[in-house]
Amino acid sequence: MIVRPRRLRRNATLRNLVAETAVRPESLVYPMFVVEGAGRKEEIASMPGQFRFSVDALLEELESCVALGIRAILLFGIPDRKDETASAAYDEDGIVQRAVRAVKAKFPELCVVTDVCLCEYTSHGHCGLLRGNDVDNDPTLELLAKTAVSHARAGADMVAPSDMMDGRVAAIRAALDAAGFQEIPIMAYSAKFASAYYGPFRDAADSAPKFGDRKSYQMDVRNGREAMRETALDLSEGADIVMVKPGLAFLDLVRRTAGTSPVPVAVYNVSGEYAMVKAAAQAGWIDGDAVIRENLIAFRRAGADVIITYHAKEALEKGLLR
Ligand code: PBG
Ligand code: ZN
Repeated sequence: MIVRPRRLRRNATLRNLVAETAVRPESLVYPMFVVEGAGRKEEIASMPGQFRFSVDALLEELESCVALGIRAILLFGIPDRKDETASAAYDEDGIVQRAVRAVKAKFPELCVVTDVCLCEYTSHGHCGLLRGNDVDNDPTLELLAKTAVSHARAGADMVAPSDMMDGRVAAIRAALDAAGFQEIPIMAYSAKFASAYYGPFRDAADSAPKFGDRKSYQMDVRNGREAMRETALDLSEGADIVMVKPGLAFLDLVRRTAGTSPVPVAVYNVSGEYAMVKAAAQAGWIDGDAVIRENLIAFRRAGADVIITYHAKEALEKGLLR
């Protein structure tokens, strides 16, 4: 036998010498949930190790995150009051707006990305305005744009629309520019699927739709070509980063997107993916840390430039990126 691939696997030094993939700490984005009140740090039942923080507790938590090397966070707000028109989403004094101001004042170097959607703020839990039982696309755009501008005004470094309305990137870009925020990038949830993997997030954010589902706006999980079309549309509307979400079951699309995208590609390692790893690890059925490492490396190997993951902090803490 002349060819023996095992020669380069004989010890860790050789394996490290030829390893093709590592995840850079700078590529990670840590999603965090912020709630009203003070002194609150409540663990999310279906996401062990993840919490809802009041603003003061969030600032405290960020001390250790920043010390470990977290460079970017993605903020989700959970308001006390929800209504039909999601008015708390674009309130200048809303929970996310206040959190962004406080975080940027204390950690000016930290990249603060905000999720732009209405589902955490609507009483019905849908991502846009209702007309009858349908989510009404065009009037929703105005509210999304208002929300994005209010986030930018609070000091957000980047906005990330996750609603999947048609034309939202263009609407948000135009509104940001008109308000003087030409330099604020948009990370578009471009290929976002109507996935069962968002379950734990909806517990965390209390944002499950009160009736029906999100299949009339989020994508059908059976469609890859349509994902490429959504991504192309977002690019034509000015998206600065495009995203595939969820991650693990959609790595084919991360690869396809990375192969053609002229802008950086993000992947969202979503709440259900996190919950499955944690549950199996707690049961003693898998080695959780090793699985986290494999998953994060898989995202990078598939071509993701930016990895949004609830594992970000523990991955840095435990050195799981290579
Ligand atoms: C809001 C939003 C959701 C997620 C990110 N932004 C939930 C949804 O679309 O129902 C999911 C994130 C996760 O599961 O970790 N639209
Ligand atoms: Zn939503």
